[in-house]
Amino acid sequence: MAEKRSDYLVELRDKVVSEGHASGTPTCYVDSAKGAIIRDVDGREYIDFSGGIAVMNVGHSHPKVVQAIKDQAEKFTHTCFMVLPYEPAVNLAERLCSVTPGNFEKAVLLLNSGAEAVENAVKISRYYTKRQGIICFEHAFHGRTLLAMTLTSKVKPYKFGFGPFAPEVYRMPYAYCYRCPFNLKYPSCGVQCADYLKEFFISHVPAETTAALVVEPVQGEGGFMTPPPEYFPKLAEICRDNGILFVADEIQSGMGRTGKMFAIEHWGVEPDLITVAKSLAAGMPLSGVIGRKEIMDSIHQFGVGGTYGGNPVSCSAALAVLDIFKEEGMLQKSEILGKKLRERFESFKDQYELIGDVRGLGAMLALELVKDRETKEPAPEEAKKLTQFCYERGLVLLSCGTFGNVIRVLMPFVIMDEELEKGLAIMEEGFASLSK
Ligand SMILES: Cc1ncc(COP(=O)(O)O)c(C=O)c1O
Repeated sequence: MAEKRSDYLVELRDKVVSEGHASGTPTCYVDSAKGAIIRDVDGREYIDFSGGIAVMNVGHSHPKVVQAIKDQAEKFTHTCFMVLPYEPAVNLAERLCSVTPGNFEKAVLLLNSGAEAVENAVKISRYYTKRQGIICFEHAFHGRTLLAMTLTSKVKPYKFGFGPFAPEVYRMPYAYCYRCPFNLKYPSCGVQCADYLKEFFISHVPAETTAALVVEPVQGEGGFMTPPPEYFPKLAEICRDNGILFVADEIQSGMGRTGKMFAIEHWGVEPDLITVAKSLAAGMPLSGVIGRKEIMDSIHQFGVGGTYGGNPVSCSAALAVLDIFKEEGMLQKSEILGKKLRERFESFKDQYELIGDVRGLGAMLALELVKDRETKEPAPEEAKKLTQFCYERGLVLLSCGTFGNVIRVLMPFVIMDEELEKGLAIMEEGFASLSK
């Protein structure tokens, strides 16, 4: 007989859950969560620096979100928006039009997952432009369905063995300044990586057959790469000059994570289409494409949609999230959190040679670990050891990055000071133990 509930669940899971659907913390089975604290079935508590991968910006089980879910569930949970529409979806669409950058008329398509939003942004771009080519980036992550997986860059674990991939997808280098693909240094580089798009039209895909450029303003799974100020304005201008749609994938960087509602606002660029998901509905499955009205409205009736897209319970949760942003100053909270994190991470970098780079925007911050600051050889084993060290001491911390050597934080903005301090102290202890 297994003694702990988690032992029983580990055993049962081994029997009945697909191995491919793995967990980073395979022995912690969640019982409840509140704010930035998770409690497991054995009564153990964890500080959550992962936010369910950028989903819980307003915190676990926020009372207003819980209430909105309960209220809507008691009224009805599903009719299918394509059969019988309902108010929460329309209200949410209106709110999304107003919180996204771009002082122009917009329209919204509501879906379920991030990958589905990206897929639909591509479908819409192709339909509107009557072109097929899609340009994406090295180190990008856009999801795991066929087209989204094709746009995703990293091979293992995301693409390995899952081909063939979707056609007409072209990949160019990203502004990964710490490991510049052009071997240059900012600012003397003149941000050639953005100008390179013009050359890309000659060597990879003509502008005339390119529908859209799909880009994360701050790359998420790839390692929180954050381009310089000139990068997106340049890319957007080249797109505009060539009739190519600029699609910002804000699924990880959006909903206040960088201190602004959407990360692309830091660059002053107004995307033609924006994809959102994750923290939009605080854990309820919901995603959306928000874009220029003439583009979104170009599709024939029933050309896009889905059974669950814009589910009423999820939409009600999202409306509560947007209320919380306003009423509880989430953007300010995010900004303050970002400053605290930046200060601490810079001081970690001063102390520990293992940290090669501190980067990100606002509360979307990461540390890239290297074996040697000169050679910049990635240190993925150390990243793994650090996350394991933290987990054993009650801190859930995520790694990411093409080379698996980046430590990122995505904790709820509502994390209490003492929880944050405790979590950072565990991280520091981890760095100290790895540096011995
Ligand atoms: C930038 C970005 N796009 C798309 C996705 C895919 O979202 P989902 O896992 O909801 O399909 C993710 C998920 O991590 C993401 O970070």
